[in-house]
Amino acid sequence: MEAAAVASSGTGLRCSLNPVPNPHKISARVRFTTTRQSCAATCRPLLLLRPTASAYSAAIDSGAGCSGVSKRLAVFVSGGGSNFRSVHEAALGGKVNGHVAVLVTDKPGCGGADYARCNGVPVVVFPKSKSAPEGVSTDQLLNVLRDLKVDFVLLAGYLKLIPGELVQAYPRSMLNIHPSLLPAFGGKGYYGSKVHKAVIASGARYSGPTVHFVDMQFDTGRTLAQRVVPVLANDTPEQLAARVLHEEHQVYVEAVAALCDDRIVWREDGVPLIRSQANPNEYM
Ligand code: GAR
Repeated sequence: MEAAAVASSGTGLRCSLNPVPNPHKISARVRFTTTRQSCAATCRPLLLLRPTASAYSAAIDSGAGCSGVSKRLAVFVSGGGSNFRSVHEAALGGKVNGHVAVLVTDKPGCGGADYARCNGVPVVVFPKSKSAPEGVSTDQLLNVLRDLKVDFVLLAGYLKLIPGELVQAYPRSMLNIHPSLLPAFGGKGYYGSKVHKAVIASGARYSGPTVHFVDMQFDTGRTLAQRVVPVLANDTPEQLAARVLHEEHQVYVEAVAALCDDRIVWREDGVPLIRSQANPNEYM
């Protein structure tokens, strides 16, 4: 594997780091370098470990040592990362029985990647592009996810289509959140404010986020959860986006919590349902 695929903060990992690099434990073939780099303005400068055997080992050890049963999550973002943040905080607070093992992004300078670095979550850039030459290939990403023992993949505002090999590697284990009531206002080109503009222009009176399993296309996988918000007469796309985003943060955490608790039941016709935590005979 080429260098520069993973960056992990040296100070923010939640559990103790293994000081002895063990390059045989992982498939990364990388050299050990460190660079000082500033995080977002609100964070202290951190010592960043560039893709190294020890960075991988530390990332693996940090999760494994935190809880034997908690699920290991990879979160994919392209933007501000508020959904990533709410899942990460829910995991830290015990609402989600999981641990964010890695943040994957196509935009290494985005807010979500900054938040990850500031919070000791390793960052992998995917895919490789002109603006992100440090990015990894699909095979390399799959190796990283295997090395980090990732159980579930969560797309949280990641705007690239996920390659088929990756979807196949995580059957019934990859979720996305979309800011409309799918199947309406979904598919290629429907992302961010474009969705909300289209909803308002259509005259729809209700909107809201959808959490769904990921298949080979944009926004067509099985719906797992939805929330409804009103579309008000004088809404701007920004106002509607804020109302929907507030619900996204709740519904994504609930869906991810259910995934990590094995509370998803697949109906015979292929529809996934969330079993209530309080009453196992009820579905949400
Ligand atoms: C969210 O509204 C999410 O639903 C949307 O991008 C935003 C990311 O916000 N995703 C899509 O439009 C996917 N088609 P965040 O970075 O603050 O979580």
